[in-house]
Amino acid sequence: MKLRVRPLGRLAGTVQVPGDKSISHRAALLGALAHGVTEVQGYLEGEDCLRTLTAIQMMGVEVTKKGPGHYRIAGVGLDGLVEPGDVVDCGNSGTTARLLVGLVAGQPFWTLLTGDESLRQRPMKRVVEPLGRMGATIVGRADGNRLPLAVRGAERPRAIDYATPVASAQIKSAILLAGLRADGPVRVTEPAPSRDHSEVMLAAFGARLERAKRMVTLHPGPLRGTSVQVPGDISSAAFLLVAGVIVPDARVSVDGVGVNPTRTGLLDVFAAMRVPVTTAAPSGSGEGERMATLSVASGEPSGTIVGGALIPRLIDEVPALAVLAARARGTTEIRDAAELRVKESDRIAAVARELGKMGVRIEDRPDGMVIPGGQRFRGASVTSGGDHRMAMALAVAGLVADGETLIDDVACVQTSFPTFVELVNTLAGGPALTVEA
Ligand code: S3P
Repeated sequence: MKLRVRPLGRLAGTVQVPGDKSISHRAALLGALAHGVTEVQGYLEGEDCLRTLTAIQMMGVEVTKKGPGHYRIAGVGLDGLVEPGDVVDCGNSGTTARLLVGLVAGQPFWTLLTGDESLRQRPMKRVVEPLGRMGATIVGRADGNRLPLAVRGAERPRAIDYATPVASAQIKSAILLAGLRADGPVRVTEPAPSRDHSEVMLAAFGARLERAKRMVTLHPGPLRGTSVQVPGDISSAAFLLVAGVIVPDARVSVDGVGVNPTRTGLLDVFAAMRVPVTTAAPSGSGEGERMATLSVASGEPSGTIVGGALIPRLIDEVPALAVLAARARGTTEIRDAAELRVKESDRIAAVARELGKMGVRIEDRPDGMVIPGGQRFRGASVTSGGDHRMAMALAVAGLVADGETLIDDVACVQTSFPTFVELVNTLAGGPALTVEA
């Protein structure tokens, strides 16, 4: 599938993006492990999160669809899952794979996991190593670093005090999920805080946790089913917000966006770039996930430096941010972001290569990129390389290019943001984006 992008002069309106990908995965997994029913509203019906629902069904959990994004999950408790009868296919979803490896590492049966071509190249040692220390036996390609993996979960996982070398919510969450059945407390310390949706949701399901800035300790114990309202995904909203800044006559609002502070790095960068963002009607309880309406208008961003502890708070937004930076006044530097090399694609190489085809100069650095501002974009033929966020970042770039842009391999947008094309066209007031066979 290809996406044809026509340049735009105007973008206006208020839209809602689909549910948060990270929170949707966690609602399914914790719902499965809880005692009693969990009702989830706003579940992201993208391919990644549907993989997670299929995985829990394969372990004997009844999932009933009650409406769009509305699911009833009949939790079976920490000891109620059954061995899946076939290989669990995690598709393109790193979160499904890594969180699930964690969950089944604490279950006394065999689970076989695989994924698509991209996921089978992504590193798994980061979860396999600590879960092995907790007593799981995990074997797989590349000495257990690549899917397919076979996991024999521990009868009773061992307590662990683990310092992760990378700030990754997937690693942290995998250990916490295995730790729910552990023989003592599990503690994870990170080099910088990563997204804390697991901690927030575990607390809502009745788990006992102690939290410090870069550390979490979970005391094993049962979970109780609850209701979960999934906020809109700020990582999806990011594409519309960047478009709302760079398209010449634009005014864009996104309603109901999750604004958990561990995810709002992009808003900090907007502030540093002097892009005014209005945050209206924040809602949600003290400890829970908060939502707000985010509004932007066309403007002239300034270049900035993005690095350090900010990186985990905007890691998925870097492709969109690169597009914004190339239109800014002055140079932007992104550093400390080597993790981008092991996402759905090598996003440093992909951004430099594909935006390069549009005439945009970006310097590829081992842990980031340097992006000169004030650049003109030229319509071109580019490819997502099967990476959903690359596809959407290139589409946003195409909105401000001279001439049409044709993006190849765009079916992947379905993994995280199935309504992307529709929402851009709503804001454009016409078919700025058209999908072609
Ligand atoms: C995610 C964590 C991030 C992010 C991914 C979703 C999660 O990965 O890139 O899209 O839901 O835990 P890492 O934790 O590996 O950085």
